[in-house]
Amino acid sequence: MNIFTFNKEDDFVQTGANLIVSLLQSNPRAVLGLATGSSPLGIYARLADMYKRGLVSFAKSSVFNLDEYVGLANDHPQSYSTFMKEHLFNHIDIDPKRTFIPNASAHDLEAECQAYDQLLEQNGPVDLQLLGIGSNGHIGFNEPNDHLIGGTQVVDLQEETIQANARFFTSLDEVPKLAVTMGVGSIMKARQIVLIARGVEKAEAIKNAFQGPITTQCPASFLQCHSNVVVLLDHEAGSLLT
Ligand code: GLP
Repeated sequence: MNIFTFNKEDDFVQTGANLIVSLLQSNPRAVLGLATGSSPLGIYARLADMYKRGLVSFAKSSVFNLDEYVGLANDHPQSYSTFMKEHLFNHIDIDPKRTFIPNASAHDLEAECQAYDQLLEQNGPVDLQLLGIGSNGHIGFNEPNDHLIGGTQVVDLQEETIQANARFFTSLDEVPKLAVTMGVGSIMKARQIVLIARGVEKAEAIKNAFQGPITTQCPASFLQCHSNVVVLLDHEAGSLLT
C-alpha cells in the first residue's frame, strides 16, 4: 500500500491524472474504473486538459463506472451518467459505446445488475480503478453493514450518505434512497486501485480504512487485502494517519 499526502492541490490532481495517463500511454486499450463525487473533479479536468494538449488519447480505452442512483432518469442532471458526460466524457475522445454505467432506470434491476457483471467479466479486469471514499468508509455505494456484496446489486443508501449527497439536490427529499453499485468483490478484481480523498471530513474514514481492522463496517478497509493500492490524500484527509 502506497499512501501519499499532498500539501498542494495541484500536486494531488497531477499525480492522479498522471497515473491514468501513463497507463493509457503504455496500454491504449486499458479498462478504467471510474468514480463520481467531488473528489475526482480536479483529476477529470486535468485529464481533459492533457487530452486537449495531445498528451493522451482515450479512443481505444473503456470505462466502467462504479454506481448509479435508482430512480433518476439517465439524463437527470444529478444522475452519475450525466456527471460523467459533463465532467469527462464530453471533453475527451472516448467512444461513447465503450463507456459503461449501471442502468439504474432499467425495469428489471436484477437483470441489469447481472448484465453489468457479465460486461465486466467480458471486458475486464479493470486495469485501474479510481475510488473516492464516503465519510462512513463506503466505496462505490457499498455502505457499512454486517455483510458486503460481491457483484453488482441494488443497495439501500445510509442516512449519512443521503445527507452528504443532498448538497447536489435542491432538497433532501429528492436524494434517491437506493442505488446500483458494483460490489466490493468486483472492485477488488481491479489490477490497480487508486483511492483519492480530500478534506478533514474524510480523515476518520481514511484512518479506519488503512490503519484500522478489516471490517464490513468500513468497506474501504478491504482494500488492505489488495496487492496494488495507491492512496492519494490532501493534508487534511491524511491528518489522522500515524
Ligand atoms: C458518493 C459516491 C462514491 C464517492 C463518495 C464520495 O456517494 N457513490 O463513489 O466516492 O460518495 O464523494 P465525494 O468525493 O463527493 O466526497
